[in-house]
Amino acid sequence: MILPADPKRNYLAHKAEIDEAVHRVMDGGWYILGEEVAEFEREFAAYLGLAHGIGVGSGTEAVQLALRACGVGPGDFVITVSHTAVATVAAIELAGAAPILVDVDRETFTMSVPAIEAALNTHGRRVKAIVPVHLYGHPADIVNIVAAAAEHNVFVVEDCAQSHGAAFGGQKTGTFGQIAAFSFYPTKNLGALGDGGAIVTNDSGLAERAKLLRQYGWRTRYISETAGLNSRLDEMQAAILRVKLRYLDDENRRRRHIASRYEQAFSSTTLRLPVTKPQASHVFHQFTVRSDRRDSLQALLKEAGVGAAILYPQPVHLQQAYWDRVQTCGGMENTEQQAREILSIPIHPDLTGEEVECVIDAVRRSA
Ligand SMILES: Cc1ncc(COP(=O)(O)O)c(C=O)c1O
Repeated sequence: MILPADPKRNYLAHKAEIDEAVHRVMDGGWYILGEEVAEFEREFAAYLGLAHGIGVGSGTEAVQLALRACGVGPGDFVITVSHTAVATVAAIELAGAAPILVDVDRETFTMSVPAIEAALNTHGRRVKAIVPVHLYGHPADIVNIVAAAAEHNVFVVEDCAQSHGAAFGGQKTGTFGQIAAFSFYPTKNLGALGDGGAIVTNDSGLAERAKLLRQYGWRTRYISETAGLNSRLDEMQAAILRVKLRYLDDENRRRRHIASRYEQAFSSTTLRLPVTKPQASHVFHQFTVRSDRRDSLQALLKEAGVGAAILYPQPVHLQQAYWDRVQTCGGMENTEQQAREILSIPIHPDLTGEEVECVIDAVRRSA
């Protein structure tokens, strides 16, 4: 079976270096918040061209703590999308705020700018932040989102869980808003071998607050200056991420190469292909096509040994945990229609040329 993502193969591709890094940590005897985390934080921030990186326990906690660092809390509204991993919305609630969910763009699957403008006008001063999600590796319309946020004096917290290395106009995602959150879940473009996340920012005040919050609000050990939590990236994951960061650009290039092969091969089918906007550098965390016959296409691909995934089958505002209490603003037509049509075809850097051709063959026969 060709899997939609294959973190074990990515580990095996870098096995010697990763094993060496893990043993270095085990033998060193310092397992939490040591040199590996500090080095990774420096290297990852430098990769993005930012001043500060703060390693945390997961992407969900990165979003939560980034919001809290901005002062978001109970009584505040935070605008985000419903077409995302539920983690984005969960993180807003974990920060104590109320999510306002808006529709996405018809083409890019990312936050609609007219929809956030409407939400900002409707909810006024209670909105404290916007969380755009660079979904599937394509940058959201971030310049216009930042402009709308600035007009209303609200924070932009970028959710970059799916966009490591993606850029708009040559500038990397994660560097447009005041602060950004990354996930290193194993299947991500930059994935650990366990949970992990990071907050990045150029603002030293926000960085300081995020750093306090990730460990009980401690500046001095055992003395809590503010109420925080335990959300620490561990030394082993940081050491693994330092290895993998060195390959991120190469692996993103490989993803783009596979994507262009798919685009060319699928152009004669009825599938609607992912759009890359001018100035956007897409890192194809997913290669998401749209089809009116999505479910049968997925079943046929499965029979052919190709695991295609639906990310995400149900918008957050329709999910049982949220539908009767999370607010939406404006229509959700694009979000709901996309949820019925989307299918993500396997795309990861360790797919062989032969496997790519096998996927193409199966899709062409099924679509
Ligand atoms: C868009 C988005 N936001 C947030 C997260 C949460 O990351 P994590 O799984 O590391 O908590 C994920 C990952 O699943 C994601 O895809």
